[in-house]
Formats: sequence, structure tokens, C-alpha cells
Amino acid sequence: MFTSRIIGCGHCFPKKIVTNDDLAKIVDTNDEWIFSRTGIKERRIAGANESTASLGAEAAMMALRAAGERPEDVEAIILATTTPDHPMPATATKIQAMIGASRAFAFDVQAVCSGFIYALSIADGLIRGLGKRGSVLVIGAEVMSRVVDWKDRSTCVLFGDGAGAVLLKGSEERADGGRCGILSTHLFSDGTFYDSLFVDRESSAPEGRGAIESADRESSAPNNHGTIKMNGRTVFTIAIEKMTEVAALALAENSLSINDIDWLVVHQANKRIIDVVVERLGIYQVTERIDGRRHVAQAPSCTQRTAQAEQRIDEPANFRGLDTEKVIVTLESFANTGAATIPTTLSIAHNDGRLKAGDLILMVAMGGGFTWGAAVVRL
Ligand code: UT7
Repeated sequence: MFTSRIIGCGHCFPKKIVTNDDLAKIVDTNDEWIFSRTGIKERRIAGANESTASLGAEAAMMALRAAGERPEDVEAIILATTTPDHPMPATATKIQAMIGASRAFAFDVQAVCSGFIYALSIADGLIRGLGKRGSVLVIGAEVMSRVVDWKDRSTCVLFGDGAGAVLLKGSEERADGGRCGILSTHLFSDGTFYDSLFVDRESSAPEGRGAIESADRESSAPNNHGTIKMNGRTVFTIAIEKMTEVAALALAENSLSINDIDWLVVHQANKRIIDVVVERLGIYQVTERIDGRRHVAQAPSCTQRTAQAEQRIDEPANFRGLDTEKVIVTLESFANTGAATIPTTLSIAHNDGRLKAGDLILMVAMGGGFTWGAAVVRL
């Protein structure tokens, strides 16, 4: 059977680091509040010479190099972004020109923080449907800092800029008949939540960005596109519900349990959201190692384990569930980078050697719209 496999990953972040203490100079906040409520310590912010296209192009080139492929062999470029460089044309076409992917067709996908899963699903459909042997670049790139209201402490602390990319290629299934590549994607949306998280075009340009940039003369163009408005509580609650639901669905449809998963890559907006999703999926936390043995310090209630206290998980009765070390989190250093979060996380974990050929990855995301989705991928 024909399948779409990830053959390369790449990522790119702006140089400028903005810490929680930096933000405390421009809005009434502090590191303690931000870190304890979100898990974020710092984020990257694009300078004047950095854009969604430039970050996306860098990430795409890294993915191509990792795969040993040439830009001119790319057949399609799909960019997931909430922050295109211009409302038209598609920023993906700018990336096409920047990397010299002359044979490709290119377009943008807008599904906010779920955008990468949506784009991955479309790319998988293209490869399967058209039987393409060429490669498809799937990129998630954002300059969220240009739609953030830098005077609103309840949102400006949450977001960051960056780009990640994967290169997909059509391939035959493994000779042994084992399933590999993109095993499934599941996509959903519910537009009744449209105004729970949106960019308000009527809002004025955020003067606050000037303060964030004052230490760096590479300041970017002022925002003319409105700013993010969010009902944080609603997003928090629905994100937990939908990401847990779609993760469980993706596992069930592949006849998998959470124990089969090597890595969980969840959209990262708030560490507390991730923690609850992880607990509901039956993932346990290993906090220490004693005598070479791993010990569970927190047993998830939903699995109805009898002992809530420390257990030896290398004893068969206790050895169920996914270890939180398998949940890849980059939020502390990069904050919520929208559609870029999942591909940057994949690329970072691939580069540091965590992701290996044959690993099974469950990706889950939720974003404005609301949109949500999951992908199960065997590397
Ligand atoms: O990709 C999707 C994007 N967004 C999300 O996923 C966000 C989902 N929501 C959240 O992560 C959380 O709702 C937030 C982090 C946004 C807020 O956390 P919370 O625990 O729900 O706080 P809250 O909104 O209930 O606010 C608690 C207090 C308020 O003060 P009062 O009214 O209790 O006096 C806020 O004004 O914290 C205050 N507050 C802050 N204080 C210091 C809100 N933002 C800040 C801040 N620094 N940055």
C-alpha cells in the first residue's frame, strides 16, 4: 500500500529572546504568575528582517537538507499559518520563491493552532490520491507577535514566533507489511466558538510592541491587522475536552492503546492544559529513579490505579500507561507558536535524537474556530 512518510524535519526561531521579566517591564505581570499559570519562561520574537515567510523558508530548507532532497523536486508546499505576511497572496508562494521550489504548487491553510494537523492531512491526501512520488513540504509558521496586543497581559504573555517543517514523501509500505507513515488524521471544527479566540480587525495597532522592541533596533513593522481577543477560560476548558477526545478517537481507530505510543506531541498553549490531557489519557509521571528503577509519583485517577503513592512501574501489574517523559514539551522556551508548535517540537526532538525511525507518534492540536485534530504517524 502507498503511504506518506516524514523524511525530514526542520525548524527556525527568531534570534530575539523575550523573557517573562522583559514582559513585566511593559505590562502588570511577573515571572511567578506566568510560569505557574502557563509553564512559559520565555519566547522568541521576530525582528524587522524576519517574517512568516523567512522563518518558514529556513525551516523548509532544514527539512530538505535533513532528507537529502532538492527544492526543485518538491511537488507541493502547504503552509499552515494564522499570520500570513499579507492577506493575499498565499505566503506559501513567497516561501516557494525563497527556496527555489520551482516545480511546486503552493497554498496556505488557516486553522489556527490546529493548522499543521490540517495541512498534514491535506498533504497525505495529495500523496495518496495523486499517487505522487515527489515530496510535499508541510510548514507551520507564525509571527504571532504581530497580532498580539502588547498592552493586554492576559494574552501577550502566551505567544511566540517560529516555524517548523516536515518533508513528506510517498513510499510503499514496509516489506514486512508493517504499517508506517501517516496512519490516520482526524479533523474537527465548531464555529459556534468563533468569537472565543479571534483577531479583532477593529482593534487599534498595539503600541506596546514598541516597548518590547526598544532594546533591539530590528523592530518589525507596526501591526495593522488587529489583535488577539480571547476568552481564556473557554479556550482552556474546550481545549482539554477536545484534545482528549480526539486523541482517544485516533488511538481507537488505529486499534492502539496509549501504551503503544512512543511520543505524544500536543499543541502547547499552557502546560496546565497538557497536564490534564496527559492525565486523562492515562499517562503517568516518572519523577525519580532509585537503584536504576523508575518510580511513579503520580498515578492518574482515570485509570483507577489503587495506589496513588509511589509505585515501582517495572513490576508488571503497574507497568501501564505512557511515561510523561514521552510527552515532548518545548513551551517553556518558545511559548505558544500557533501552527508552528507541532512541527517545531517534532524537529527539535528529531535533532536531539529522541525521535527515531519506527517510532509511533500521536499528534494532537486545538485552536481558534474552534478547530481540533489528531494525527498518528509511524516514522
Ligand atoms: O492556542 C490556544 C490559545 N490559548 C490558550 O490555550 C489559552 C487557554 N487559557 C489559559 O491558558 C488560561 O485561561 C490563561 C493562562 C489565559 C489565564 O489563566 P487563568 O488561571 O484562567 O487566569 P484568569 O484568567 O482566571 O485570571 C486570574 C487572575 C485575574 O486577576 P483577578 O481578576 O483574579 O484579580 C487576572 O486579571 O490573574 C490575572 N492575570 C494576570 N496576572 C498577572 C491575567 N493575566 C495575568 C498576567 N499576569 N499575565
